[in-house]
Amino acid sequence: MTPAAQVPHHIAIVMDGNGRWASKRFLPRIAGHKKGVDSLRRCVRACAQRGVRVLTVFAFSSENWNRPAEEVSSLMDLMAVAISREVPKLQADGVSLRFVGERTSLSEVVREGLEKAEAATAGNSKLILNVCFNYGGRWDMAQAAGKLAARGVPINEENLSSAMALAHVPDPDLLIRTGDELRLSNFLLWQAAYSELYFSDKLWPEFDEKALDIAIAEFVRRERRFGKTSAQISAVAAHEPLVA
Ligand code: IPE
Ligand code: IPE
Ligand code: MG
Repeated sequence: MTPAAQVPHHIAIVMDGNGRWASKRFLPRIAGHKKGVDSLRRCVRACAQRGVRVLTVFAFSSENWNRPAEEVSSLMDLMAVAISREVPKLQADGVSLRFVGERTSLSEVVREGLEKAEAATAGNSKLILNVCFNYGGRWDMAQAAGKLAARGVPINEENLSSAMALAHVPDPDLLIRTGDELRLSNFLLWQAAYSELYFSDKLWPEFDEKALDIAIAEFVRRERRFGKTSAQISAVAAHEPLVA
């Protein structure tokens, strides 16, 4: 395992590949989504054990409404069931759950489930789990700008950041996408400006602790320069006190 000091503080994941996982097994796509919930539970625990403090996952995008109605309604049902079933486990693991996305177009059952789960886990502090549901990066930027405009506040980077749906956490250090696709699909367009990107060919239900450790090890090897030169980064590192 990577030493805790080097582990990314915030990991974001596009959990992709559930449908293909199911199709390969001649199962309905929803079976893949159910497996995806198991994979998420495993990933949350693994992140907490490794010292990750924030995990943000993409569960349903603004564009996923365009899927066949049957799949959309199965995903909504799965969400409602998963929330009520998982809350006691999240409580036991010290995980605080936050839903990030546009809530008004969700059914009352789903919305109330989300709100109850947030309230029940609000006091936990080991890991913050942000579940992006009915979320899109463009929606987030537009709603943030809208909030500022309504308040008559200047639209600048600092004010926009604080009006974004993920204002309660720092930007992700590492952004993982499973399912062998090389795109963001409207995830965290603002917050991923300086995230290290990691693409895995594993389908989300197969993304296990070992795969997570490989992604974190790759993150540790990267040099994050934030616009500076490599020499500047090395100079700062040379003067940093050694972490025991
Ligand atoms: C990701 O898996 C989960 C959601 C988008 C809800 P997919 O359902 O996109 O799986 P693939 O990409 O079709 O395999
Ligand atoms: C992104 O996956 C959304 C989620 C994982 C929830 P998609 O499978 O919807 O992305 P595209 O459509 O292939 O870009
Ligand atoms: Mg997909």
